Amino acid sequence: MRKLAAGNWKMNGNAAALSEVTALLSAHPDPTCEMLLCPPATLIAQMNWAARNSALRIGGQDCHAKAAGAHTGDISAAMLKDAGATYVILGHSERRADHGESDEEVRTKAEAALDAGLIAIVCVGETELQRDAGQTLAVVGAQLKASVPDAVTAENVVIAYEPVWAIGTGRTPTLDEIAEVHAFLRAELAARIGDQATGVRLLYGGSVKPSNAAEIFALANVDGALVGGASLKAADFGAIVAALSA
Ligand code: PGA
Repeated sequence: MRKLAAGNWKMNGNAAALSEVTALLSAHPDPTCEMLLCPPATLIAQMNWAARNSALRIGGQDCHAKAAGAHTGDISAAMLKDAGATYVILGHSERRADHGESDEEVRTKAEAALDAGLIAIVCVGETELQRDAGQTLAVVGAQLKASVPDAVTAENVVIAYEPVWAIGTGRTPTLDEIAEVHAFLRAELAARIGDQATGVRLLYGGSVKPSNAAEIFALANVDGALVGGASLKAADFGAIVAALSA
């Protein structure tokens, strides 16, 4: 399986920030891992152009469940694809919290993404309260079950485990805690789709940075990362790409 270094720019970046893409590609023209950046929708087409003929893939951060229609302000999976995206992040905890997205809604969006030929990166993760209450596996298990479409294969879906309390905080679970959740996710997928589960990429996300990337990537069942803050700068994201390619 090819590992995946995915960057989520969130609501950051404008045309001037595309210089980071140029810098990233000149430092890492041909990494062994797959390299993906998900900029704001306004930058997808321009970033796709900046990354033409390169190893960098482009993704969206959300899509609507419908293919087209009267949904002011929304973007369909087919539109992301048309702009040059090959991936879309779905069910990020910020979407779940800020827009009240339920597991069912995330699954419907993921189905739309698959229909449009995009690879869906489906995010799951517990809050700090849930972890403290010992509910982590129950929470991520339920999210996985209800958010991931039945058509899941190793090729069309990536799962990102992102503890909500680790996102943007500089705090991460212990290595044992990450390994425990990833092993659990693998087992749950295996119960659902059998041998295919070994090929589904399981990303860890939440305060991944150059200084902790290597030890996280050395864990079993960690097949890459979903990186927020550290994906904005070519030097930081490049160091994470290098750690994953090592
Ligand atoms: P962070 O964000 O790397 O800034 O913690 C991760 C994410 O939200 O995907």
